[in-house]
Amino acid sequence: MTNTQKLIQAALDCLENSYAPYSHYNVSAAVLCASGKIYTGVNVENASYPAGICAERNAISHAVACGEKELTAIAIVGGANYSASDYCPPCGICRQVMREFSDPQKLIVIFAKSVTDYKQMTLEQLLPESFGPEMLGK
Ligand code: THU
Repeated sequence: MTNTQKLIQAALDCLENSYAPYSHYNVSAAVLCASGKIYTGVNVENASYPAGICAERNAISHAVACGEKELTAIAIVGGANYSASDYCPPCGICRQVMREFSDPQKLIVIFAKSVTDYKQMTLEQLLPESFGPEMLGK
């Protein structure tokens, strides 16, 4: 398997843990960090709907909680009823959170249906002219 395929597989392996009893739209994400380690996350919904959180942000928070600060790739899988049937692009808030922990020209964002059926692009393509930590001197 290629590194891309391993990342997609890590996301697929966690899709069953997605908690989406309200939308029934299940999402899982896996981030590859500069350290070479992979961290996963799933969407976790809530009876108070706005308290729910996306898979991508949970995966990134998981990585940061383990000491990571630099993302190099993220794979996202999802669809209705635990299927990985859609190319699932990240929402705007998740794109901004990716921006915090990556170089947008380098971060590869992968939307996958399977390890052989996927699209990929950079964060720069998904979030052009973005606002990031350098604007605040970080
Ligand atoms: N969702 C994600 O987890 N990631 C995205 O990028 C898009 C949407 C989740 C949020 C919610 O639990 C469900 O999909 C339907 O919006």
